[in-house]
Amino acid sequence: MPDISILMVEATPIRFFAGMPSDGKLTDRFGRGLNYLRISVTDRCNMRCDYCRPDADAYKAESHRQILRYEEIERIVRIAAGMGVNKIRITGGEPLVRRDLPILVEKLAHIPGITDISMTSNATLLSKYAQNLAAAGLRRINISIDSLKPLRFRKLTGGELAPVLAGIAAAKAAGLWPIKLNTVLLRGINAGEDCCEVAELIDFAAGHGATIRFIELMPMKQGMDWQKHYISIDEVLQNEAVRARVDVDAPLQMDRQGGNTAARYLPLKNGQGDVGFIMPMSERFCEGCNRLRLTADGGLRSCLPADYQINLRDLIRSGGSDDDIRTVFLRSALIKPEIGVYDFAANTDKRSMIHIGG
Ligand code: 5AD
Ligand code: SF4
Repeated sequence: MPDISILMVEATPIRFFAGMPSDGKLTDRFGRGLNYLRISVTDRCNMRCDYCRPDADAYKAESHRQILRYEEIERIVRIAAGMGVNKIRITGGEPLVRRDLPILVEKLAHIPGITDISMTSNATLLSKYAQNLAAAGLRRINISIDSLKPLRFRKLTGGELAPVLAGIAAAKAAGLWPIKLNTVLLRGINAGEDCCEVAELIDFAAGHGATIRFIELMPMKQGMDWQKHYISIDEVLQNEAVRARVDVDAPLQMDRQGGNTAARYLPLKNGQGDVGFIMPMSERFCEGCNRLRLTADGGLRSCLPADYQINLRDLIRSGGSDDDIRTVFLRSALIKPEIGVYDFAANTDKRSMIHIGG
């Protein structure tokens, strides 16, 4: 996928920005305020989940030189914060395989205007880092867990379940709260006839007082056949054991925090909270999208499925000013599409979640 170079976007008529609010807050052409930046700090991972990595063994991580340095990320976030970004999520790859991550968290936590820093992790290294992360200013964490069966877990992720369970406990002990668990629904692996683990995962989350969210598989460049493994939330909600726990007849609740594009919640029948269902495929809720993404190698991307991004790294390394960086943010907002469309034909490694950031 070619990056949209600064020069190509240069042709964009600047009068488009006439509609920018005078308070300087980043807003796209459809009036959506963009206050949420997801930052991938590495495209490396100590696992190899088939839904995330294209051809696990062949995937080539970027070299260290290509990855943004912490100082570069800090500068970008400082500028973004001046344009209304207040919420940051650190993603990867697995963020914790990047050295000294708590140092980055601390830098970001000190930037005026940044009020919320969270992270998405596979939790394998959390036992080691949870305390330091919390002390550095991390508030919350989302942890991926797709199966509670050690063998199944290993087959899907290439990793071990035990350190993940230990990591969840460590996050809790460190006060990283609320913990959200994420499960990607995969027909034939953890959902669908004969293998559905959704009910067990709901009970597991409840046992930890955590929220769990089930996510429809998105067709990215990945190591599995999307057609074969995609299963809709609707189908999962037909499962007896799931219906015994979740009130499927309740109206789906919008995400309480807003801006969370396709997340809807159903109450648990026991009254002890609710379960999230994220439907990037069967529902489109792009109208609430408040996100931008920064890839590990410095691409600013305004829509997950849309295959274009603007390279901030080269701009910074060739001496770009703060104003130049601001202009890239404005351009990125400008090219954010109204609705994201998954292009099944696009097939480069740069379209994998491990590259873009989950
Ligand atoms: N479909 C849906 N979610 C995905 N993730 C990664 N790849 C996909 C995909 N193809 C999400 C999962 C995972 C996080 C790292 O990114 O939620 O837990
Ligand atoms: Fe690693 Fe998360 Fe991707 Fe799995 S989903 S390979 S844990 S980044």
